[in-house]
Amino acid sequence: MLRTRVLITGANGLLGQALVRRLSSTDDHDVLATARDDAPRFDVPCDYTQLDVTTPDAVETLLTDYDPDVVVNCAAVSDVTECDEDRNRAWAVNARAVRTLAKQCRSVGARLIQLSTDFVFNGKRGPYEEDARPDPVNYYGRTKLAGENALREFDFLDWAVVRTVLLYGTAKDLSRSNVVLWMIDRLSEGKPLRVVDDQWRTPTYVRDLADGIVRLIDRDRTGIYHMSGREMITIHELARTVADVLGFDPSPIEPVSSDYFEDAVDRPPKTGFIILKAETELGYDPRPLREGLRTVGKELGVSSPS
Ligand SMILES: NC(=O)c1ccc[n+]([C@@H]2O[C@H](COP(=O)([O-])OP(=O)(O)OC[C@H]3O[C@@H](n4cnc5c(N)ncnc54)[C@H](OP(=O)(O)O)[C@@H]3O)[C@@H](O)[C@H]2O)c1
Repeated sequence: MLRTRVLITGANGLLGQALVRRLSSTDDHDVLATARDDAPRFDVPCDYTQLDVTTPDAVETLLTDYDPDVVVNCAAVSDVTECDEDRNRAWAVNARAVRTLAKQCRSVGARLIQLSTDFVFNGKRGPYEEDARPDPVNYYGRTKLAGENALREFDFLDWAVVRTVLLYGTAKDLSRSNVVLWMIDRLSEGKPLRVVDDQWRTPTYVRDLADGIVRLIDRDRTGIYHMSGREMITIHELARTVADVLGFDPSPIEPVSSDYFEDAVDRPPKTGFIILKAETELGYDPRPLREGLRTVGKELGVSSPS
């Protein structure tokens, strides 16, 4: 059987590392992991090369040389505040680079799987289905929506967009943390956590998302897919659940409203996804939140009460 050739960008990030690990766990795919760093941060044996997706010549050369069947674009400026503060960089990575990748994928005949976010929505009517109307409330969301729209610019139909929500999980030497790791950190040190009780999400365990993306790679589908966890909760409830599952004292957790963080970038109040399309077409089957949190606890060596 011919193995699918998969090129991953942003492979040193949270999702990139999970995807490399998942794809390398079977013999069905040839994987080329790429990232900005000159070496991989993960310890899975896998071909690796440096690639900055904002350099069109480098993208063209690599895609021509490697000739992938599928490119999964995990490269992003994913921090909402950073996007607001460095708008040029955010636009270059989250929007313009997607156009470059789409152009080169069309030229070598590869399918492009683009990662996107619940933050393309305004959060007034979550949970959202794939055909809901985007209306981002911050610059991060605008750049990610522009990235999605870049796929439609060419006479190029071989793309899929995977939108996800509040990713959590572990990976090696991450350049930025994620909300669950931050919560575990604070709770384990008994430090106060102020967490909003008026923003709802469907948190997503990164390994479940990686599994869903592999299903998409293998089933040759195009179009938009929503992939997240199933449970809709507030960030405050998430912190309480982390404490409960991993056996931490919950008393440092203080619920606050979004207004409390006066200088924070606007965030959509209620997003979350309806994942029926991914469930029915791909067999996407994310684990329950408590199970995901227990697995993260095990990965970190934090024991949960029996
Ligand atoms: N994390 C979430 O909660 C969340 C929620 C919804 C959607 N998403 C989307 O899911 C995708 C994956 O997110 P993630 O959590 O894995 O993000 P992440 O951990 O921040 O990973 C993104 C990676 O992209 C890399 N990158 C940045 N600029 C690049 C460039 N010019 N060329 C190549 N690589 C570059 C980053 O490297 P550096 O560290 O060197 O900058 C980082 O390793 C993104 O599209 C994100 O928008 C994430």
